[in-house]
Amino acid sequence: MKIAIGADHAGYELKELLSKVITEIGHEIIDMGTGSSCSVDYPDYAESVAKAVSDGTYERGILICGTGIGMSIVANKFKNVRAALCNDLFTAKMSRLHNDANILCIGARVIGIGLAKEIVETWLNTPFEGNRHLKRLEKINFIERKVINSENEVIKRS
Ligand code: RB5
Repeated sequence: MKIAIGADHAGYELKELLSKVITEIGHEIIDMGTGSSCSVDYPDYAESVAKAVSDGTYERGILICGTGIGMSIVANKFKNVRAALCNDLFTAKMSRLHNDANILCIGARVIGIGLAKEIVETWLNTPFEGNRHLKRLEKINFIERKVINSENEVIKRS
């Protein structure tokens, strides 16, 4: 798989480490920054990765900040993005099985390196279960379209 990865300063070191692990497993990593531990703003990196997943350029994305919260808030603003904040193995597995999550968000200040590696491996290796969960994803898409349409109506009227 082609995986876009991004982090702010709090997630930079973990991003570097996880990128190596993911490449060793055999996936292709597209690093969208940041490139050092100097302070930056997480929305900028979440936007780059989420945009690329939203428009289908890359199948999956991984975003790392201090808690993973800021990254997930931003990423879920993008169409077709299902970003899951997973700081434990169970949610990492379930986010794939039930939600077909296409972006994984991790908190570098919440979990250790060992757990982060396991979370990423689990998330990359777990397939979407489909079946009854498919119609729920269709409902998410429907809601997304409704929100976009109502926003367009407001723009048209103003
Ligand atoms: C940066 O200090 C921190 O706020 C950021 O990494 C993240 O945790 C935000 O959600």
